[in-house]
Amino acid sequence: MTKHKVTKAIFPVAGLGTRFLPATKSIPKEIMTLVDRPLIQYAIDEARAAGIEEFIFVTSRGKSALEDYFDRAPELESVLTRDGKEHLLAILKQTNMESGAIAYVRQHKALGLGHAVWCARRLIGDEPFAVMLPDDVIAAEKPCLQQMIEAYEDIGGCMVAAMEVAPAKASSYGVLDIDKDMGALVSVKGMVEKPKAAEAPSNLAVIGRYILTPSVLTNLNRMKEGAGGEIQLTDAIAEEIGTSNTVYGYRFRGQRYDCGSKAGFLQATVAFGLARDELSAEFSEYLHHMMAQQKAAQ
Ligand code: G1P
Repeated sequence: MTKHKVTKAIFPVAGLGTRFLPATKSIPKEIMTLVDRPLIQYAIDEARAAGIEEFIFVTSRGKSALEDYFDRAPELESVLTRDGKEHLLAILKQTNMESGAIAYVRQHKALGLGHAVWCARRLIGDEPFAVMLPDDVIAAEKPCLQQMIEAYEDIGGCMVAAMEVAPAKASSYGVLDIDKDMGALVSVKGMVEKPKAAEAPSNLAVIGRYILTPSVLTNLNRMKEGAGGEIQLTDAIAEEIGTSNTVYGYRFRGQRYDCGSKAGFLQATVAFGLARDELSAEFSEYLHHMMAQQKAAQ
């Protein structure tokens, strides 16, 4: 059982975001905002809270807005300083990354999530690392990755975030075949990416947070196409099963929103809007009003 501090995280952000066209024609999906913060900011904040110090983005053409987002904005800063807008300067500061803390790697071809993670292999070296999919936004008292890192520090291995989904939805996910169910943690004897409904080993689905050992990157060296003709991260993790490197699913505490889908994105917008002190009263009154109108119209 290898246990090292996890300080690096990979953020695969190379996807085309076609489900959000036409918006994603010119805006990277990860820059789309929940209330006033881009999806990527939620992932970065969660990573920082979990002690991540190095942030590796796997990008593609058309993602320069993401790089700009984490850069300084000298003009904006000087106007805000001149106008004494301290609170806005503080908000801007959250988007700045320490020099050298952020790295960008290009995925030249959309060959799948496994391939995207493999593109970052030279920046990982011989350490465990996290992978975070910014589409999965998780609202939690203790951030999801932090919960996982605490569990990982106890038990080691490879760990994926897991959540029970409706059985009919299991074929949209990586699905775990449970070996031992220990409550929050399960050990895993199999993992299948997007199984056919009748073949899903359970309804415990993988959610986009992972803590992985470098051996998973070695497995990705022998990349084979999996579900959907893509190189799947799930398959590379599954190769660890049966080695001394146990694979665990971790049932996190929190509410996950699938911001890769329109319905999930809207649900997250409502939830995060209602959670904001400055918006909640007005927004909730509006929602009640809308619901009443809709009911009356039925
Ligand atoms: C990816 C992973 C899948 C996982 C899902 C979670 O799929 O391949 O195993 O269950 O994220 O959001 P995607 O949603 O990118 O198709």
